[in-house]
Amino acid sequence: MCGIVGILNSSSLKNNSIDILKKLEYRGYDSAGISLFSKERIKTIKSVGKISELKNKAQNVSDKNFYGVIGHTRWATHGVVSKNNAHPFANDDLTLVCNGIIENYRKIQNRFVEIPKNIQSDTEISFYFLTYLVNKYKNSDEAIRVFKSVIKGNYAFVIFIKKNNCFYLLKNGSPIALSHNKNSSYICSDSSILSDYSDKIYHLKDGDIIKIQQSKISSLNKAKILFEKNEIKQNPYDKGKYQHYMLKEIHEQPEVIKTTQKNYVKEFFNDFESKFKNLILNKKIIFVGCGTAYHACLVGEYYFNKYTNIDTSSELASELRYKKINKDEKILFIFISQSGETMDTLMALKYIKKNKHSSIVITNSLQSSMVREADVTIPTYADKEVGVASTKAFTCQILSLANLSIEIGKMTNSISKKDYNKNLAFLKLLPIKLKKLINDFTPEAKKIAKKLSQSDTCYFIGRNIVYPIALEGSLKLKEISYMHSEGFPGGEMKHGPIALIDKKSLTICLSPNNELYEKSISNAEEIAARNGKVIILSSVKIHRKSLNTHNVSLPKENFIDTPFIYTIPLQLISYYFALNEGTDIDQPRNLAKSVTVE
Ligand code: AGP
Repeated sequence: MCGIVGILNSSSLKNNSIDILKKLEYRGYDSAGISLFSKERIKTIKSVGKISELKNKAQNVSDKNFYGVIGHTRWATHGVVSKNNAHPFANDDLTLVCNGIIENYRKIQNRFVEIPKNIQSDTEISFYFLTYLVNKYKNSDEAIRVFKSVIKGNYAFVIFIKKNNCFYLLKNGSPIALSHNKNSSYICSDSSILSDYSDKIYHLKDGDIIKIQQSKISSLNKAKILFEKNEIKQNPYDKGKYQHYMLKEIHEQPEVIKTTQKNYVKEFFNDFESKFKNLILNKKIIFVGCGTAYHACLVGEYYFNKYTNIDTSSELASELRYKKINKDEKILFIFISQSGETMDTLMALKYIKKNKHSSIVITNSLQSSMVREADVTIPTYADKEVGVASTKAFTCQILSLANLSIEIGKMTNSISKKDYNKNLAFLKLLPIKLKKLINDFTPEAKKIAKKLSQSDTCYFIGRNIVYPIALEGSLKLKEISYMHSEGFPGGEMKHGPIALIDKKSLTICLSPNNELYEKSISNAEEIAARNGKVIILSSVKIHRKSLNTHNVSLPKENFIDTPFIYTIPLQLISYYFALNEGTDIDQPRNLAKSVTVE
């Protein structure tokens, strides 16, 4: 979703800002722009489409006589995709960019005659409003304060006002961080990018109004600005030998799973009882997430159902935040989010906090807003995930839930010490197993991808712990290839979805070797009997063979490693199918990496 960059007092304003916008590309966007500024002049360049377009347009613009720049990648919410609606919004007096949504923009538009009535973009309306205030108040700080007090919503603004030659950062809800190095300041909505520029960072807090005037940083809301060490050092934007981030991230899974597991066993879940007992005992657990993270929640339910006696359920964050929550019942909410910034999940977290419930966040982003809100954070060590389609973050989330469930199981005596150790041993072996699986399954995935191109639609079915994996497989396929797809629990097919089956459909049936195997194969046969093409993924080598089914062997699984073994083949199938389709795999249309608006 939208991205913000700001740089002050650097010798390379234009190139550095465009480089940072390029790094923000992974978040998804449809237009981009930069404003260079000095106390004499503001120069703005905007374009629709890729950053390379912007770079071309800015080619002949010199940044020599400017001391600062702000830039933005826009993912349209209010107002169509157009050069006009791209940020920054600028005139001779000020320039600004904004992430998030200004909820009361129509009210503001109707209240001030100075704001044209044909504007659709909430940021453009905010821009006209601020221009009006800057003209009205002699003191620009005052104009900013009034502006902040009127606008409502979740946002991050970065603003330059020429009159007093001042730079302002405003935050409420949307992430924005500031790093400082000698005289230079770097601002970005993705703090991990700033580690390339300085190792000191300040994450703005909600309500912050930061002012920077001639390198002096101050707060208009009297907040303490304490810079901390920015730990992130790796360069996640290097694709190495891979054509896409997604493929690189699929292949990274054995390694990041190994690191995550090592950290859990050696450190994080060490002394589990003393760290987690009070948080967990005597509470019902509700998992919360969106999209892929929600599918991890559903996997969590099956793990907890198997290894603990705790009552669990899952909620989509966008639904939970508007539901009534029982205040008398003790609930532990476990939020799952790769980015830790997804607006729906963050708002749901704030909402349950208001209702005095406790919270854990499982996240891949330790500097995120959710980490600052939750009682306890369980990190996943997947490293930065750049591809919009989540792969390695998902498998690390389910690894986290697998560990959490067996730790709780051991603590509450719902699994024996022997079973606990056995499961830990299975998790330790996962990286080797997955590495082999990726290599062995790749040629198979390419073949299935070819088959898929003869179909109009693809269904994924699975039962028990692979039901959420069927949902995830379907989400992955539609996200990156735009093919129509649905995921169903195998047992539900005959209750309606089987009406969709015809010879142009292909169904991928996940059939692990467990007590539901036979039932799952029957579901596949019911589809084949109705002329639907079927591919069965299973560790069972010999199936009853029917006309339209094609069987593919997977490694032997145990309950705890089943979701991993059935996820990776589906990631590879989606990837190779999308590759054949020629879609923009790392930045699929209409999608954003981190959905920071409602
Ligand atoms: C995953 O492939 C998706 N891009 C999307 O569903 C994502 O998982 C969802 O938006 C939640 O993101 P989060 O984990 O960063 O909260």
